[in-house]
Amino acid sequence: MTWGSWGKNLSVSEMSRLIHHCFDNGIDSFDHADIYGGYTTEQEFGKAFKATGLSRDKMKWITKCGIQYIAESRNNHVKHYDLSKDYIIRSAEESLKNLQTDHIDLFLLHRPSPLMHPDEIAAAAAHLKVSGKIREFGLSNFSPSQSDLVMSKTTIYANQIQFSLTHAESMWNGDLDYMMLNNIVPMAWSPLGSVFKENTPQSERLKRSLFKFIEKYRGTADQLLLAWILKHPSGILPVIGTTNPERISNSVKAIDMKLETEDWFEMVQESQGHRVP
Ligand SMILES: NC(=O)c1ccc[n+]([C@@H]2O[C@H](COP(=O)([O-])OP(=O)(O)OC[C@H]3O[C@@H](n4cnc5c(N)ncnc54)[C@H](OP(=O)(O)O)[C@@H]3O)[C@@H](O)[C@H]2O)c1
Repeated sequence: MTWGSWGKNLSVSEMSRLIHHCFDNGIDSFDHADIYGGYTTEQEFGKAFKATGLSRDKMKWITKCGIQYIAESRNNHVKHYDLSKDYIIRSAEESLKNLQTDHIDLFLLHRPSPLMHPDEIAAAAAHLKVSGKIREFGLSNFSPSQSDLVMSKTTIYANQIQFSLTHAESMWNGDLDYMMLNNIVPMAWSPLGSVFKENTPQSERLKRSLFKFIEKYRGTADQLLLAWILKHPSGILPVIGTTNPERISNSVKAIDMKLETEDWFEMVQESQGHRVP
């Protein structure tokens, strides 16, 4: 999302270098959506990956569909969602072309639609799986009841949700419990939350409190925010958005940063601005 025109506007050769950098640091999964860059970033990434000379078999491509965005390449007047069978299949095929690949490792419905029907979704998922165009099927931003609806007709591998120390509702409202109970892999988008994006009393409080832990854990603030997510027992996979090579290398090291339970709760306290009940 952050590599193309919605973010740092990297050139194809800059993207190629960044893919190499990720791979050299043990990152082999890349998160896309058809809409990123107004339907342009998948294609740029496809070109960039080809130029790396790396083997596709060593990589995992994730992409999403379902948001009909207002962009030059589309004739949409109103932003809306389309989770019909034909649209889902057409989107997957378009993403395959853009990414220059014969399969998508994980294909997600980007957002739930009030007009979605589980039969349509299941028929699309079955078609895409049987034809080998996708390996796994999943969701993004779906609540437990919306997931149940889809799961009444097809299998779900993952649900990509907003989750971070500043957006932690899912660990209190049952969303993550639901995923654990149903063997759905939780993925966290915007894993650093608003800490570096906004100057609010909450982000200021967190930056101050992370300072203390930086010394104790000998890491950086972004590593601590990722380590905080990784301690949750549901096995959340953070989807990092930084384009900075040094921060990418740092992020991977968060895996080895094991936060003590009291420190984990102190971070919750600083985020909330009050103690847990
Ligand atoms: N499924 C969905 O609905 C959905 C929605 C949104 C996003 N996503 C996915 O989630 C990914 C990550 O989202 P995100 O970009 O919001 O995640 P993020 O990793 O929480 O934030 C990344 C941003 O924080 C900045 N940053 C990182 N470390 C920093 C530091 N130490 N100091 C200051 N700034 C720092 C980065 O800038 P630099 O690049 O300069 O480091 C970048 O702008 C997206 O790329 C997309 O694939 C999915």
